[in-house]
Amino acid sequence: MSKQNYVIAIDGFSSCGKSTVAKALAKRLNFVFIDSGAMYRAVTLYFLENNVDINEPLAVKEALDHIQIDFSPSSGDQHVILLNGQDVSSEIRSMRVSEHVSQVSAIREVRKALVRQQQDLGKKRNIVMDGRDIGTTVFPDADLKLFMTASPAVRAKRRFAELSAKGEETSMEEVQTNLAQRDHLDSTREESPLRQADDALVLDNSNLTQEDQLELVIDLVKRNINLDI
Ligand code: DC
Repeated sequence: MSKQNYVIAIDGFSSCGKSTVAKALAKRLNFVFIDSGAMYRAVTLYFLENNVDINEPLAVKEALDHIQIDFSPSSGDQHVILLNGQDVSSEIRSMRVSEHVSQVSAIREVRKALVRQQQDLGKKRNIVMDGRDIGTTVFPDADLKLFMTASPAVRAKRRFAELSAKGEETSMEEVQTNLAQRDHLDSTREESPLRQADDALVLDNSNLTQEDQLELVIDLVKRNINLDI
């Protein structure tokens, strides 16, 4: 029986270029790209805007019942995420959301709801999904698992440039602190912490250009998945 669909899982710390490579790879392979972090960010935005008390399990559960997350077909390289029908692609990248997303994504009910949705998204199509627990929890049987790393200084520089380009006022120090806090919370939480899957291939991109990195990943795909590329 021929295989129905392929899943490529890309995990790693914040701002180490997972989405950039995942997006480019999906485009090259004609797979669907899914940014699982954007889903946690959208839930965080909803909680902030609706003053949901994250220490109140009932309030969290009720809020989750009112949240619908969709990805609209991308226009060009622009990936659009809709929160209850509204385009929140830009808002979810703000510092305000970044400062709260690790707490929200540590909540068991939130993870249960989003993991289920992520698994559904990967059921019948070829996907590249990036996140923290894709190779360990969401798709433990993924066809290829990559674990990306980059030095903290490189990651902070990239994130700062991204925020500055969007006109958000922040300092390098603030960005560094936020990244360090998120690394800590993401890898020490009880619910599916960020962890390298035993069978993941590690890719340190501190000194790679985006083009070199993509070629390297394509090479890994060719060697590990029987695709006609
Ligand atoms: O990839 P990102 O920085 O946009 O993700 C935002 C936050 O969401 C990150 O700090 C941890 C959380 N996250 C998670 O817990 N599990 C995932 N699969 C993806 C993201």
